[in-house]
Amino acid sequence: MLLALTVASVIGFAQAPARPAPGPESAGGFVAYPPRAIADPAAVERGKALYSVNCTFCHGADARGGDGGGPNLIRSQVVLDDDHGERLTAIVQKGRPDAGMPAFAALSVAQVGDVAAFLHSIPVSSRSGPPSIDIVVGDANAGRAYFQSKCASCHSVTGDLQGIASKVRDPRMLQQTWLMPGSGGGRGATAPPPVSVKPATATVTLPSGEKVEGTLSRLDDFVVSVTETDGTHRSFALDVANPPTFEIHDPLKPHKDLLRTYTDTDIHNVTAYLVTVK
Ligand code: HEC
Ligand code: HEC
Repeated sequence: MLLALTVASVIGFAQAPARPAPGPESAGGFVAYPPRAIADPAAVERGKALYSVNCTFCHGADARGGDGGGPNLIRSQVVLDDDHGERLTAIVQKGRPDAGMPAFAALSVAQVGDVAAFLHSIPVSSRSGPPSIDIVVGDANAGRAYFQSKCASCHSVTGDLQGIASKVRDPRMLQQTWLMPGSGGGRGATAPPPVSVKPATATVTLPSGEKVEGTLSRLDDFVVSVTETDGTHRSFALDVANPPTFEIHDPLKPHKDLLRTYTDTDIHNVTAYLVTVK
């Protein structure tokens, strides 16, 4: 659904008959779209620094999508609708963990506002840098060593991951597959995830002692929802005096934990190695 919206907004741009009305000049001398008041240059600078540490890997230095599989933010409807961080704050602070967007609970509203100022300073229309960069820049031997120490407890290139590079031929997709299994292409890809990943399940224990088990369909501060094996959908409020307790069993939890530990070099090396696993 979200991906569909993003794609729709990209198409919307491609078909836009006229250039947007000229707005105020933004950083770099380009016209930002939609037209916005000129941001405080100090806020843009602070936002740029925060962005480069926290977001570049996934969303790209130019916010047009990065190695980590984050979507283009410049054409994101959320970003376009945002003025000074008010639409971004919830997404950034809470993340969308099931979709590969981690939570940045430590970033304050003011900091997200600075990140928004930076994003809004990037021109929508032009693309900086080459359209596609060869992502296989790592050292396959170092990647193999990394794999042996961090991945081999669960995977084997002669077992479950045999021929992974033949199944997932596009290195960018392959990288996304091992970084965030089941995420299915964050850059507006229309293809389904190349591998099937078992969904997270939850066991909810009601105050009465009744236990309800099923596939986790939603979890936020207010509600936990599960779909039982017979297809029954059940939701439980969490913001009540006597909330149910629940336990999440996410087969990808180890991957989500690992995601925080990779350096860019590790990522490039592991991808370079997996590309050889044909
Ligand atoms: C580990 C990778 C990763 C990092 C790091 C990351 N993101 Fe994301 N982000 C994603 C993915 C994947 C999505 C798509 C989620 C979805 O499909 O709902 C996303 C979605 C978003 C969206 C929603 C876009 C839309 O149109 O729905 C925003 C806004 C966003 N990220 C901002 C940020 C900001 C700001 C940072 C840094 C503070 C950041 N992200 C860091 C992976 C990441
Ligand atoms: C603690 C166990 C664990 C560790 C460690 C781990 N993974 Fe996984 N990985 C999983 C699980 C579980 C899945 C989901 C597989 C499924 O549901 O079929 C998965 C999925 C994958 C997939 C998708 C392919 C498939 O067959 O589903 C790839 C590729 C992958 N992992 C690579 C890696 C790499 C590379 C590392 C090391 C950096 C790593 N994993 C570390 C448990 C782990």
